[in-house]
Amino acid sequence: MSTLKRGLKDKMVDHFESIKILDNFYQTSSFFPMPIVLVSTCAESGQTNLGPYSLVFPHMIADESKHAMMLITRADSNTAQNIRRTGHCAINFLPDEKKYLENCVLLGYPGDTTEEKMKDNIFTLLPSPRNGVDPNSPYPDIIKEAFQVFECTWDSSFPSKLVEGCENFLLRVEDILLKPKYKEAIIRGMDAKSFPRMPIGYGFRDNIHFWFTQGSKPFALRIPESKGTSVNTVLYAAKRYDPTIEWMPEAAEKIVRVPRLFLKRAIAGIVDEAKKKGLTVITPEFMDKVRDKRRKEKDD
Ligand SMILES: Cc1cc2nc3c(=O)[nH]c(=O)nc-3n(C[C@H](O)[C@H](O)[C@H](O)COP(=O)(O)O)c2cc1C
Repeated sequence: MSTLKRGLKDKMVDHFESIKILDNFYQTSSFFPMPIVLVSTCAESGQTNLGPYSLVFPHMIADESKHAMMLITRADSNTAQNIRRTGHCAINFLPDEKKYLENCVLLGYPGDTTEEKMKDNIFTLLPSPRNGVDPNSPYPDIIKEAFQVFECTWDSSFPSKLVEGCENFLLRVEDILLKPKYKEAIIRGMDAKSFPRMPIGYGFRDNIHFWFTQGSKPFALRIPESKGTSVNTVLYAAKRYDPTIEWMPEAAEKIVRVPRLFLKRAIAGIVDEAKKKGLTVITPEFMDKVRDKRRKEKDD
């Protein structure tokens, strides 16, 4: 039967079947779309160690000083030992080239020391721009081929040993490094060509294989007008946030595209700037000035 016919047949079946939930259920009992990253850490010898990981997700997304990722790893992996000792790591996001994924699988063989495994490494290592920031502890190299790198520091106040044999590291995101093309796209606006090509792991694995897919062409879906933020929503939220500051509707219109979840934070930032300047009315011209200032800060 062709793949297309089989796909159609699956869609037509109108029931589900339960499967036994085993340990590592995302690998053993289901499919789960996952990132594939190489976490770099500093081994005791000073050499950079690269470990492939998929259990790595945004964990704390709001509150500037607390942005954090969660990394779940075997407690005795090189990565875990190095994070415990040095406190630092870098999360390197790789493009979806098959040769990179092949090398990830090779670097993911448990039990190899850093010296042994890094003989197989095909990636180019670059010194971290954070070098020297923490005089007490070294920063690992980052990967030149990555399209993006999160430079992180472990927050050891968060309990990491939640399950025997595993460690859940809360990693504060201290810097996000992007290749210039992608930084430009995020700041100036995206189209389908500006997105990096990212691999996706299937979660599921058997005793012999990991399964991956290459990212297909990105596509955009517009948020329905009725669910988006309107000028009135912004004016209402602004009034609630600080009734002493008046907003011109034309000024509010400039942030209607901010998702509702982040609207209060956006309003707070603007009101803060206005108060610093002694203003009581927010005009569209002032909004433009704030936007230009932020762009300049991001560019610097
Ligand atoms: C694609 C891929 C994803 C992986 N994800 C994880 C993970 O999220 N957590 C984990 O403990 N091990 C994961 N592994 C297995 C680790 O890579 C393996 O334990 C390896 O020895 C870790 O390297 P290290 O000891 O140098 O840290 C993964 C392996 C591969 C190939």
